[in-house]
Amino acid sequence: MMQKPPKDFFKPLAIGAPEPYREIPVALERMIHFFPPHVEKMRAKVPDMVGQVDVLLGNLEDAIPADAKEAARAGFIEVAKAVDFGKTGLWTRINCLNSPWMLEDVTEIVAAVGNKLDVVMLPKVEGPWDVHYLDQLLAQLEARNGVTKPIMIHAILETAQGVDNVAAIAAASPRMHGISLGPADLAASRGMKTTRVGGGHPFYGVLEDQKGEGESRTFYQQDLWHYTVARMVDACMTYGLKAFYGPFGDFSDDAACEAQFRNAFLMGCVGAWSLHPKQIAIAKKVFSPDVDEVLFAKKILEAMPDGTGAVMIDGKMQDDATWKQAKVMVDLAKLVAE
Ligand code: GLV
Ligand code: MG
Repeated sequence: MMQKPPKDFFKPLAIGAPEPYREIPVALERMIHFFPPHVEKMRAKVPDMVGQVDVLLGNLEDAIPADAKEAARAGFIEVAKAVDFGKTGLWTRINCLNSPWMLEDVTEIVAAVGNKLDVVMLPKVEGPWDVHYLDQLLAQLEARNGVTKPIMIHAILETAQGVDNVAAIAAASPRMHGISLGPADLAASRGMKTTRVGGGHPFYGVLEDQKGEGESRTFYQQDLWHYTVARMVDACMTYGLKAFYGPFGDFSDDAACEAQFRNAFLMGCVGAWSLHPKQIAIAKKVFSPDVDEVLFAKKILEAMPDGTGAVMIDGKMQDDATWKQAKVMVDLAKLVAE
C-alpha cells in the first residue's frame, strides 16, 4: 500500500522560493569521498572516516569492474547497515540508467538501507527525463519500504547533451540535491583531446602578446572547465541546488588539484570529490573560506547592519551587493565552525 509522504517531505529544497538570496549551504559538503565497497580493506576504513569527511560515497559505477558490481552493491549495503554515520552524509553512485546493474542497485539498496541513505548520485545524466525516471523509482521504493525521509538525487554533468540541458536537469525534481562536473566522461563525450581526469592541459592556453622569444614566449594555461562550471553553477543556483567540481585524477600533482578546486570554489562550487585520502585535506582547505576574507566580510556586515547603502572600507566601495557577497562568506564560515 502506498504511504503518504510526510507533510514536509520535499521542504529542504524549496524550489521556486521567491527570495532573491538563498541561505546556502545547509550542510557542509566540502568533499564527497569515494570508496570502492567491494574491497574489504576499504570497507574496514569507513568507520574511521566518519566525522573526518563531510560525505562518504560508496561507488558502484565506473572504476568498479563489471565482475565486481554485485559485490560492490552488497558491500555498500553491509557497511551502510553496520556503521553509524552521524552527521557524515551517506551517498552511493549507482550505475547508469541503461546499464544491467542500475535497477538492482536502487531497489536492493533502498530496501536494505533506504532510511540511512542521503543521496543517490546519478551518472551520465542527459536530460530531465533521466532524473524523472529515478525520481519516480525512488518514490515507489520509499513507499514500498517505509522510508521516512526523501532520498535526494545528485546528477553528474558528464555528457555534451547533459551540459546542453543543465538548467532543465537542475529543475527536474524537488529531489535534486546538486550537480557535479564529471570531466573525464565529459571530455570523452565532447571529443576533447585529453586523457586526463579533470584539471588543466599543458597545451590549452594563450600566448601573451609578443612577450619572450621562441620556447620562452610567455604562455598561460587556461582553465579547461571554466565554461561548464559556470553553466553548472548558474543552473544550480537558479534552482536552489549545490554545484560541485568532480574528480581530479592526477594524485601526483596536489598543487594542480588545489588550483582546480580553488577555481571551482571561487566560481561558486561548494565542494569536490576526493578519490585519494590526501585530497580530503585539499578539499577541506579550499572549500572552507579564507580567514582574512571572512574577517573582511564581517566588517562589511557590521558596517551596513540593514544591508543597504554604501560605505568605504579600506578604500573599497561596499554596497547592497557586496553585503550579499559578504553574507555568503560569513554563512559558510559559521557552518564550518559548527
Ligand atoms: C566522473 O565520473 C567523470 O567522468 O569525470
Ligand atoms: Mg564519469
